[in-house]
Amino acid sequence: MIQDAGSKTMDPRSNIIDKRLARIKRIIAVSGGKGGIGKSLTASVLALTLSRLGHRVGLLDLDLSAPSMHVILGIEGVYPKEEKGIVPPEIYGIEFMSIVYFTGDNPSPLRGIDISNAMLELLAVTKWSSLDFLIVDTPPGIGDATMDIIRWMKRAEFLVMATSSKVVLETVKKVIKMLTELNVPIIGVIENMKMGKSSLVKEELKEFDVPFLGEMGFDDKIEDAIGEVDKLLESDFAACIKGIVFSSFK
Ligand SMILES: Nc1ncnc2c1ncn2[C@@H]1O[C@H](COP(=O)(O)OP(=O)(O)O)[C@@H](O)[C@H]1O
Ligand SMILES: [Mg+2]
Repeated sequence: MIQDAGSKTMDPRSNIIDKRLARIKRIIAVSGGKGGIGKSLTASVLALTLSRLGHRVGLLDLDLSAPSMHVILGIEGVYPKEEKGIVPPEIYGIEFMSIVYFTGDNPSPLRGIDISNAMLELLAVTKWSSLDFLIVDTPPGIGDATMDIIRWMKRAEFLVMATSSKVVLETVKKVIKMLTELNVPIIGVIENMKMGKSSLVKEELKEFDVPFLGEMGFDDKIEDAIGEVDKLLESDFAACIKGIVFSSFK
């Protein structure tokens, strides 16, 4: 590995990653800055929904410290295959790749450049087929991981998750500002775990040129559906996501 993993020109993996992602029509990163706001659940249900609508879908879990999509989707007993690169297993019709295949159940206390390198490695080895959508689940925070996604997955569009919490909203605004300054496309904002009738999120978004895509209430049946795809798809949460797909995904 050449010293500066951040430098596009010096890192030989840059070309490989471009090739690996070349057959993917749209790359959608689910982001939001904070943890526990429903990024992983949304990414998982969005992938399932798009797949059931007949699209070719891939799902990539880039949350190194807390990968969780395999738990949400109940993915067990399927593994990537080595084939001059790593071929993601297909499950429920979705190509699934996660850092969990490399870290197992062990915590991965990586820092700074090591996190970037792990992500680069995963992007460089993974052989996706022709996909309509690659949905990418991202870790909390608006620093390194987001910058890496922007740098290495150049066509990524962002779906930004918010909640009705003012604390979350402050971070969401930072994420939007940062993405806007970097000219990164934002599909829009989803308000999750909506509380009461406050339209604060919608109102505050007016200062940005970013669509408000819709809102999801707190779904008290979701916990029971974790790990069970059919139940997830029957949930109110999934119905909201489906509505958003119909109105905002061409
Ligand atoms: N609308 C909702 N109603 C009920 N529970 C939800 C909702 N959205 C997310 N959750 C739950 O909240 C927890 C955190 O969600 P998760 O998707 O892991 O967040 P993040 O990826 O942003 O950290 C999970 O247990 C998830 O099932
Ligand atoms: Mg998550």
